[in-house]
Amino acid sequence: MYLLALETSCDETAAAVIDEGRNVLGAVVASQDDLHRRFGGVVPEIASRAHVERILPVIDEAMRRAGVALGDLDAVAVVNTPGLAGSLLVGLSAAKALAVALDIPLVAVNHLQAHVYACRMAADEDVFPCVGLIVSGGHTSLYRCRDPLDFELLGATIDDAAGEAFDKVAAMLGLPYPGGPSIQEAAKRGNRRAFALPRALLDDDERLDFSFSGLKTAVRYKIVGPGKPEFDKLVLPEKLVADLAASFQEAVVDCLVGKAMLCLRKTGMSTLCVGGGVAANARLRQRLEDAARREGATLHVAPPRLCTDNAVMGAIALERLRAGLVEDLDLDVLPGLVRGAF
Ligand code: KG4
Ligand code: ZN
Repeated sequence: MYLLALETSCDETAAAVIDEGRNVLGAVVASQDDLHRRFGGVVPEIASRAHVERILPVIDEAMRRAGVALGDLDAVAVVNTPGLAGSLLVGLSAAKALAVALDIPLVAVNHLQAHVYACRMAADEDVFPCVGLIVSGGHTSLYRCRDPLDFELLGATIDDAAGEAFDKVAAMLGLPYPGGPSIQEAAKRGNRRAFALPRALLDDDERLDFSFSGLKTAVRYKIVGPGKPEFDKLVLPEKLVADLAASFQEAVVDCLVGKAMLCLRKTGMSTLCVGGGVAANARLRQRLEDAARREGATLHVAPPRLCTDNAVMGAIALERLRAGLVEDLDLDVLPGLVRGAF
């Protein structure tokens, strides 16, 4: 049984061919980082146009690597929520076209459930039920994941996502987009205790929420004080950049690790799964390992290549197929996040 999974929810065009045993036969990710770099963030219109250009070559290449012909496919899966409307539409249109032309089932994938399922793809054992921490460019949230397809929201950022804060702080420090990898690199040369930066909500044991906008502003004020508009023209000393990068990264990591552990305690669950682009961060991975060990919890963090957006995590469609969840051709994109449960 061969499944083709597609992912175009943001700025990665990705396709993967997966068999019924979750083996990945061929996978391709075409990153658009080069197109968005000079804007310091993803430009939705540019992203959707690039998906249109890339989706067919990316599918062809994934099929070629897998050694599977179109006629051999048994199902096609696509992320339809959440994400950028124009980007999601490209993947959905391609998937519908294949479903009609090949007369195979169309399966809908929730991008956030897929980020947690990335942990299942790398594990030898079942990882559910678990607490799911999804930490990406668009989302920072904690879920009770009863099974791969049953998520209940327990906490989330009340303003910026952690990845967005990485990207914006990198831009302030004059580091290239995407900000996460650049800050991680600069932080290696810095002192994480050089600056005392806020850890919003960390001391509030009643809440499983996050807030990163104040941290972003605090970094800005370490560079230039309030109301100084000539911010863009500054050339910052390397040591300041490294120390701010390290101090900022540590503050984000403290919040993510602290709330994930609080969530384990509050739910009484003993497994933590972590996915999303920021989960590729080496310092976060190290601190999660230490904390999970102390907590006596089992930790699964997706391997770095499955943290950032990819189609391999679309293997969650196998779970939907098993549950008989296939879609009609009137399936639409749902750009906004369905809060609560899904
Ligand atoms: O999951 P993802 O590829 O896309 C979304 O669904 O948002 O996440 C992208 C985010 C970007 O904000 C990027 O800066 C961040 O993940 N990221 C990292 C690292 N690698 C990517 N953040 C911190 N450290 C990293 N090593
Ligand atoms: Zn993502």
